[in-house]
Amino acid sequence: MSELRTEICDILGITYPILQGGMGPYKTEELAIAVANAGALGVISSIGMAATLLPEAAPIDAARLFGDDPPRVILRKSIENVTERVKQSNGVVGVNVPVAAEFLLASKMFVEETIQAREENSDIERTLRVIVTSAGNPKPWAEIKKHGLTWIHVVPSVYHAKKAESAGADIIVASGHEGGAHVSWDPVHSMVLVPAVAKAVNVPVVAAGGFCDGRTLAAALVLGAKGIQMGTRFIATQESDFEQIWKDAIVQKEERETLTGRGIFGPMRFVRNQRAERIVEQTLDDVPRFYLGEPVESNESILKLERDGFTDLVDAIPETALMFGGECVGRIQDLPTVDTLIQSVIKETHQILQDTQKFLYS
Ligand SMILES: Cc1cc2nc3c(=O)[nH]c(=O)nc-3n(C[C@H](O)[C@H](O)[C@H](O)COP(=O)(O)O)c2cc1C
Repeated sequence: MSELRTEICDILGITYPILQGGMGPYKTEELAIAVANAGALGVISSIGMAATLLPEAAPIDAARLFGDDPPRVILRKSIENVTERVKQSNGVVGVNVPVAAEFLLASKMFVEETIQAREENSDIERTLRVIVTSAGNPKPWAEIKKHGLTWIHVVPSVYHAKKAESAGADIIVASGHEGGAHVSWDPVHSMVLVPAVAKAVNVPVVAAGGFCDGRTLAAALVLGAKGIQMGTRFIATQESDFEQIWKDAIVQKEERETLTGRGIFGPMRFVRNQRAERIVEQTLDDVPRFYLGEPVESNESILKLERDGFTDLVDAIPETALMFGGECVGRIQDLPTVDTLIQSVIKETHQILQDTQKFLYS
């Protein structure tokens, strides 16, 4: 087992500088367990759990994914299960809470539940050490730190990174436009975003959007990041909670086969199929509104996503399933176990950094 430690490892108590991105609509419970047991940061995703509050508006079959429990109970059970199954390996996990304006009541509920779960159970307190907020204003969330948690915030620009730093975030994830699912209206890609954010803030930066192997982890370190967050790559693993149809799509698609169109809050990057193409057509109807500065993110956008009728992934065919994924679908060709993946990323990072020395002329 090779070593690769950065500041991120010390702050989070993990072995490798790799974070698993939060990924709704699933709880990513099995994935978080596998990632934490493999020495990286496993993350439970909360966004889909909130869909149980508004089943008629949500573009997922909330009851199938989560049963009848209310969102707080779904999250608590998930935290308990993950804690139980990673405590032997001293694995570390976090909870991802999107804090978009459309979502604030649910965000508050999930943050409170996470804090409470830690206060009531010392195993959870040892294991669950992180809250990762995303997709919204960081300012109201600084109190997370008062409860002994490390606070990570995800941003799409230098402006938002500075805002997160002044709000008190411990770590900033700079997420480029290549990434899967929600992306910013302003399309800044990782190659420009990551070094710009690393230069602009003093807290450690983690790179997201397009990172999927040792070559890209090595690149992230060179760009000034102290680690990477991977979403799309982790979907295509044996343990991930995603449907087989979604895993297969990630493996089969090439790098041109993603599209951005309007999502639930802001644009999303979809795996390209007929369904995604229809969403992009609908989005183009709204582009003039966006350029005129009118708000385009509202409940209406959720309903619009749903207008075609959601095809449950259990019975879906590849052209009609609603699936999100980043541009790195074009760089993913296998379905390894999480442990095999992480070991190969670390090994390859060492190799790439060494080889780079060799081909440089002195
Ligand atoms: C299917 C999918 C669902 C996602 N859902 C969330 C989410 O609920 N919350 C969040 O903060 N980020 C979400 N993301 C973004 C990831 O956490 C991560 O930042 C992103 O995938 C990184 O880019 P990559 O896909 O190129 O690895 C999602 C990404 C994907 C692919």
